[in-house]
Amino acid sequence: MPTTDVSPAALAAAVLDRADRLAACSEEPGRLTRRFAPPALAAAGDLVLGWMGDAGMTARRDAIGNVVGRWEPPGGAAASTLLLGSHLDTVRDAGRYDGMLGVLVALACVERLRDAPFAVEVFGFADEEGVRYGTAYLGSSVVAGTFDRDALGRRDADGVAMADAIAAFGGDPAALDGARRDREDLLGYVEVHIEQGPVLEAEDLPVGVVTGIAGQNRAEVTFAGVPGHAGTVPMALRRDALVAAAELVTAVEARATDGLVATVGELRVEPGASNVIPARARLSVDVRHLDDAAREAAVADLRERARAIASSRGLDVAWTAVQATGAVACSPALMTELEAAVADAGARVVRLPSGAGHDAAVMSNLGDIAMLFVRCAGGISHNPAEAVTAQDVAVAIDVTSRVLDRLGR
Ligand code: GLV
Ligand code: MN
Ligand code: MN
Repeated sequence: MPTTDVSPAALAAAVLDRADRLAACSEEPGRLTRRFAPPALAAAGDLVLGWMGDAGMTARRDAIGNVVGRWEPPGGAAASTLLLGSHLDTVRDAGRYDGMLGVLVALACVERLRDAPFAVEVFGFADEEGVRYGTAYLGSSVVAGTFDRDALGRRDADGVAMADAIAAFGGDPAALDGARRDREDLLGYVEVHIEQGPVLEAEDLPVGVVTGIAGQNRAEVTFAGVPGHAGTVPMALRRDALVAAAELVTAVEARATDGLVATVGELRVEPGASNVIPARARLSVDVRHLDDAAREAAVADLRERARAIASSRGLDVAWTAVQATGAVACSPALMTELEAAVADAGARVVRLPSGAGHDAAVMSNLGDIAMLFVRCAGGISHNPAEAVTAQDVAVAIDVTSRVLDRLGR
């Protein structure tokens, strides 16, 4: 590297190969799981740092463990900078493109770049999914200056505090504030990501231009009841935490109407034995909508519903708000550039909103953002069956390169 053949087709093949290599960096044998800050994430970051160096970038890790590469145009320090990137962490039993594709396409675009009137920085964020600590966007929030220092005390399922996990990863919890990116020289942040939905496939299109990103709340709800013997305590006298949680799960599903999506994805039961009445049940609640008022009203309703369920069953309930991120609109000016680039690349332009969360939502705190979605097979994501084609990845590289050219003119 730099590779001799920098055509989008050749670089797309390299992107898929690199995605396979990153997918081998996993915490779990036989499947891809790469949460925030275990050695598997360090190994993935090391690969990306190496590719950044090969592409002529100055590459480093920041205080939370994001990998950052900077490319300067030949002949000196540029006055402005375009940010590109996505995340390197994954959900459990993940696909290999959610996040990684955006980092690898950004790298491919830098490999094609011979000159520009601005610098380019590529980010591989250390946490977007929030699987380990429940709260998403840890990596980009440090860069955007919105990191909540109270989160440093949060503990993972094994009791490891976030501050200790950051230090063990080679980061520095005390230096997080200083890792904020200055905004003065920024042209914007552009993220390429698989669509994670079925629209582009239905439209028979390789890529689409994102209009905005849905807002998202995450909460942790704990019902506390009274443990007891499964064989002796009469049903009418039980204070069973899990049945209360089950009622809330169905209430969450029932509240999801009119564009609202709501999910309980995690449930932990204590003490967790078949012959013990559950004493505690802890569940995650994830609520999303493109309209902030609709999302906030749903969260308030569900919180009240949890309280009512607990009260009717004689239980205690604690509702802990873990995260609240408002809906974010993409920059009209950058969308125009993306649309022109899609048309120049010979594809029909389609706009679509994102129901999934993305680092771009947080990066909007620094300036303009835009996103390009890439078709994924069957719209499947957060699933090992995630798939993209080399042809579509080549279009994404071509379009993003054209955006860089257009911004340079
Ligand atoms: C990230 O994938 C999210 O939308 O939760
Ligand atoms: Mn994801
Ligand atoms: Mn993602």
